[in-house]
Amino acid sequence: MQKPLPFDAALVRKIAEKYPTPFYLYDEKGIRKSARDLNAAFAWNPGFREYYAVKALPNPYIVQVLKEEGLGADCSSLPELMISERVGLTGEDIMFTSNNTLAHEYRKAVELGAIVNLDDLTHIDYLKEHVGLPELLCFRYNPGSAREGNVIIGKPEEAKYGFTEEQLFDGYRKLRDAGVKRFGLHTMVASNELKGEFFVETARMLFELAQRLYAQVGIRIEFVNLGGGIGIPYRPEQQPVDLKAVGQGVKALYDSMIAGTALHPLQIKMENGRMITGPHGFLVTAAVHHKNIYRNYVGVDACMANLMRPGMYGAYHHISVLGKENAPCDQIVDVVGSLCENNDKFAIQRPLPKVERGDLLVIHDAGAHGHAMGFQYNGKLRCAELLLKEDGSVKMIRRAETAEDYFATVDFSGLKG
Ligand SMILES: Cc1ncc(COP(=O)(O)O)c(C=O)c1O
Repeated sequence: MQKPLPFDAALVRKIAEKYPTPFYLYDEKGIRKSARDLNAAFAWNPGFREYYAVKALPNPYIVQVLKEEGLGADCSSLPELMISERVGLTGEDIMFTSNNTLAHEYRKAVELGAIVNLDDLTHIDYLKEHVGLPELLCFRYNPGSAREGNVIIGKPEEAKYGFTEEQLFDGYRKLRDAGVKRFGLHTMVASNELKGEFFVETARMLFELAQRLYAQVGIRIEFVNLGGGIGIPYRPEQQPVDLKAVGQGVKALYDSMIAGTALHPLQIKMENGRMITGPHGFLVTAAVHHKNIYRNYVGVDACMANLMRPGMYGAYHHISVLGKENAPCDQIVDVVGSLCENNDKFAIQRPLPKVERGDLLVIHDAGAHGHAMGFQYNGKLRCAELLLKEDGSVKMIRRAETAEDYFATVDFSGLKG
């Protein structure tokens, strides 16, 4: 089965003449459409906001595009806060959802006026001591055995994130008594989840909690954040999540549980990364070597340092061989990089058309948690990021690293050599 591409072979070959492979290519039109579809699905909720999970694709140009679509930024570190600030997202345009957080990161988040989402009960005092408590605070809830996670995020009761239910109630009491005036409630239960009902159930869980917090603690939660985690169809036979159905499912619950109660109006927030940019990013790499031993290998010029999801999670990423989209997939190969790690494989025992040296391979669905997870082990350098703009032009939005970048943090003057 094939997966469609938003560009043709001729365009990518032309791009590769100017920018050496490997490189990431992002499709602006597709990214904007995903953002619009999600906003449309929740348009019934006047306070709805998607805070794009910057960690998924922390490139300021992408965050800028998403800002233009009305999205905020979900940040988890100081540099991500700095990216948001650079593109003009400040104040409550930012949700700061971090864990095991250091004081200087909280300080920057509070300075920017971001919505701070605490990951632990003890962080109330930590924040108070190091920065001071802002007037709005949010807690991340970990439902433990009440919900199932999945392979990427783990089972909630084994995951390091968030408050237990008991801690949640204690925590809001503590905030109330400390004079905090505004409250949010957050959770993130699963990652890459393709079942839309999962998110409707998450909304039910948070609506119920908001009701109980109102009744038992006397606080009015002003927003619930359902987290990110909407999955994407990495495999050609999979279907995307029906966002309209999710929006309508959450609306039906809202109408029966929240509308007409003291909790109305309750704002819905989300912080997806993958579903916004994932399907619209492509890692383009050239075939260099062939090797036939016990198995047949195609060696490409990208490696796991450019995209670690297959090696790290065993994740499937579809591969198209440009110009051979309609050729029979009659070769079974492993597509490998050059890292001295045997899990440096983009595909294992994958049927592909016959690949020749110089063929361009496009690795699909790499627009989230792709380049961002890059690393430099084995002295491998992170590649360039290119944006295919709506008008068809291509802009380099991050250059490829050079050996000078790799050595930039070493002071060679102390060496004898
Ligand atoms: C707290 C938090 N929010 C949002 C996200 C984004 O998840 P996704 O890209 O799967 O939507 C993540 C992913 O790691 C996360 O940890």
